[in-house]
Amino acid sequence: METFCSKLPKIELHAHLNGSLSRETLKKFGCADNDILEYNQAKQTTLDQVFDIFKIAHQATSTKQNLYESTVKVIEEFASDNVIYLELRTTPRKEADMTEDEYVETVIKALLDSESSDIMVKLILSIDRRHTYDQQVETLKTIIKYKKLYPDVVRGIDLSGDPTKGAFFRDIFEKARRNELFVAMHCAEIKNDAEVMEMFDFKPDRLGHATFIHPDFQGSAELWELYTKLQIPVEFCLTSNVVCLTSKSYQEHHVREWMKANMPFCLSTDDKGVFDTTLSNEFRIVQQTFSLNKEELWKISKNTLSYSFATDRDKNVLNEKLDKWKLANIKILKHPYYICL
Ligand code: IMP
Ligand code: ZN
Repeated sequence: METFCSKLPKIELHAHLNGSLSRETLKKFGCADNDILEYNQAKQTTLDQVFDIFKIAHQATSTKQNLYESTVKVIEEFASDNVIYLELRTTPRKEADMTEDEYVETVIKALLDSESSDIMVKLILSIDRRHTYDQQVETLKTIIKYKKLYPDVVRGIDLSGDPTKGAFFRDIFEKARRNELFVAMHCAEIKNDAEVMEMFDFKPDRLGHATFIHPDFQGSAELWELYTKLQIPVEFCLTSNVVCLTSKSYQEHHVREWMKANMPFCLSTDDKGVFDTTLSNEFRIVQQTFSLNKEELWKISKNTLSYSFATDRDKNVLNEKLDKWKLANIKILKHPYYICL
């Protein structure tokens, strides 16, 4: 099954660029060994500590050249994990050597230079919830500018950052939507029923984590009932949640409620560098924990594609790839004997 999960063509929809840098990339760009150990330790930590860790990656990507090379490297690493479609997300930021515009342009250039027949890559630009309203408005202007310049590359907007701080400003995301951006939103990463209600009311295209929604997971019957009506696809990041202690264990991860209720979800890495994981590893964990068979794993990939922000044309190309792969790799004997080899 390990080989199967690795070979399976996968779709990654929730990966933060600066949390996805590998140890090698950090070393190459001059990070101290101690910092690298802290960044890539995958030991249990609190959400607070995790948000400090990103500063290490931000030092490594503080020049245009390093940012470019790091982005190319992250894409190569996803491609070698058999990710055929990647939506990479990152927060535009300025540095001594780089304006916010140059940051976005550099990432877009790296994306365009990295696309190959193996991997298709799109960009989601993030708004950091810790920023003030005015700062968020400024970032939105940059995001809309690049959406207009590169409509096929910039597909969506995300709300992320430390969930214990800052806020969700609905009008910012309404404006994003009016400008044809799909909306993904970190939601219920901590218990905050009032904010979840506001987000549900806005109805983002996808949710990240959705940890505290189901009543068995400190949510409420009301939230869950509303969720089951909305059925917004959730990006689950199991290792991230277990490492950050917002989920007790893989067995007790809330993904099980989505499986039981047949609600839409996908599997993602969140920050493969920080949490020392790969998308194949996340599939393997879910397979082992919930005893999934090959066809069920393939179906997760297939469903994930339908939740992506890809154009219909791109979805058709990728669907064909997934179908062909299934025919060649998962043998199904017709009724009455049904065997996945
Ligand atoms: P960047 O946007 O490429 O700089 O990636 C790192 C940033 O992503 C962090 O500074 C956070 O704002 C955000 N981020 C990464 N992981 C998480 C998460 O699990 N929850 C919320 N925000 C996150
Ligand atoms: Zn995230």
